[in-house]
Amino acid sequence: MGKVCKHAGGDMCERCSWELPRDALLLVARGRTARTAVPVAVVVGTVLSLVNQGTVIVEGTADTGTWARVAVNYAVPFVVASIGFLLARRVRTDAADWPAYLAGYHDERPGITEAVLTRSVAGKHATPYSWLVQPLRDTEGPILDLACGSAPTRPLLAQARWFGVDASAGELALGASVGRGPLVRARADALPMGEDTIATVCSAMSLQVLTPLDAVLGEVQRVLRPGGVFVALVPSRLGIARGLFRWWRVMRVLGIRTQPWPNPQAQDGLAAILRAHGFVIDSDDRRVFRRAVTDRSEGALLVDSLYLPQIRQGRILAARRMLGNWARPGRWLPLPLRRVVAHLPDEVRTQQR
Ligand SMILES: C[S@@+](CC[C@H](N)C(=O)[O-])C[C@H]1O[C@@H](n2cnc3c(N)ncnc32)[C@H](O)[C@@H]1O
Repeated sequence: MGKVCKHAGGDMCERCSWELPRDALLLVARGRTARTAVPVAVVVGTVLSLVNQGTVIVEGTADTGTWARVAVNYAVPFVVASIGFLLARRVRTDAADWPAYLAGYHDERPGITEAVLTRSVAGKHATPYSWLVQPLRDTEGPILDLACGSAPTRPLLAQARWFGVDASAGELALGASVGRGPLVRARADALPMGEDTIATVCSAMSLQVLTPLDAVLGEVQRVLRPGGVFVALVPSRLGIARGLFRWWRVMRVLGIRTQPWPNPQAQDGLAAILRAHGFVIDSDDRRVFRRAVTDRSEGALLVDSLYLPQIRQGRILAARRMLGNWARPGRWLPLPLRRVVAHLPDEVRTQQR
């Protein structure tokens, strides 16, 4: 971005830069262009008025039309100078390179998803992970945790033949450091296992970001045995929930309406997608968890846990500050999640071979 901002001390912040036309108008309305545009308007407007309307004004014969023209003489250079100011402060964000962004994000913040979800509850004790593995309690395996991250499902499925696959070395190293395994570093769209080798695939908070989604689901289908089960947990729409306003404020400070995932359709539309891939849906449920936001660091953690590939640092810092200031013991944010349980019918598999 180049320019140094006096508010943030580094890159331009949201108080002096813009991305959407609406933000540019707000900068003008808040007088941010005034320091540059007013001196230009005064000089140019005065010169133009003296040259064009000076005689009429001095003779005392100026009418309403004369004063309207004088006003235009000042307004036009103000607008032109403001546009010049704004053009130099436009921020364009490039389309995110998701694989590269995800790799960097998870290597820098291993375990962040687990840190958010393990302190989220619905009802007395259920966490998102215990809800995810509920249908798998009696499964012997092999269970594959697809995009397992730091492997939070491992201790919950301690008796099963389990293994996790993830692309992030940082996430896998964290899981291994607390004795979780076996773990394999691989991409979800090129799984390093043979056809029909897996009894169950589970996946937490990943399908909305795994690309290309069709190839990933093709791989799940390939490695699952006929009749194999797929259980996936994904974020769900916020809907009308208590705490909605707080999330709305976070998003507003970040300058986004929704999170910019590459597969937004794989949230509340996941069941339809799985059906289109030949799965039979056994259940499709939504549950709103509550994530405690008891202190400043928890507020910052929640902002950091969002994927924000195109958001400027100034906005992220402002959102962390806002949520940190709001945090108190007893406060929480809603975390709506969807769990889809599906299985692969024997006959579809046979037909596809
Ligand atoms: C939101 S995290 C969820 C991690 C874990 N399931 C959990 O709940 O803590 C998404 C995970 O997807 C992994 N990931 C992203 N793209 C991947 C890919 N193409 N193949 C395998 N893993 C990938 C990331 O490294 C990250 O660990």
